[in-house]
Amino acid sequence: TKTAILISGRGSNMGSLISAALNPAYPAEIALVVSNVPGAAGLARASEFGIATAVVDHKPFGADREAFEKALDRQLKAHGIELVALAGFMRLLTPFFVNAWANRVLNIHPALLPAFKGLGTHERALAEGVKLHGATVHFVSAEMDDGPIIVQGAVPVLDGDTPETLGARVLKVEHRIYPKALELVAGGQARIKGSSVAVNWTADF
Ligand code: GRF
Repeated sequence: TKTAILISGRGSNMGSLISAALNPAYPAEIALVVSNVPGAAGLARASEFGIATAVVDHKPFGADREAFEKALDRQLKAHGIELVALAGFMRLLTPFFVNAWANRVLNIHPALLPAFKGLGTHERALAEGVKLHGATVHFVSAEMDDGPIIVQGAVPVLDGDTPETLGARVLKVEHRIYPKALELVAGGQARIKGSSVAVNWTADF
């Protein structure tokens, strides 16, 4: 399944997806990396792997989100993309794009959704005193950090954790669950049933 990864920054999740897809048996082929931020570090990393890259800068489009998304859509179509993985992509997608790519856009969020939607998830987890935190890969819906959950990974919150130490522990889990989630979806093993996703796989960590 020809897959595009959308990034805005360093692309560490992009890196783990690219590594997983190096295995010829992996059901997704990373065919394109698109950044909305010119010069995003992840673009250079993708090029090192010989992966096509594109920049669709959202700034020239101003408030016209749909025009930006049409430009994004043109890039994806030009590369025959079938599946989109958001990885540190910091733009909200409107119903226009989400409906055009229904059930074909994945996202990773650094929290155990539905807890802690939005930003600053590690600070908020610490402020709330939760003992378990983690990351979620989900299908993207028109609501931010919402949509049917595919895979989650949990980590303990340890005494003395800072947003940095907790975030680093969560990021390690992100780099494990995203390749797994993409494998399940690209391999046709994820069935959306209403708001849940049946995947014949159970967490092995
Ligand atoms: C990660 O915390 C990820 O969960 C969120 O963006 C952050 C940066 O991701 N989506 P990456 O290192 O750019 O993949």
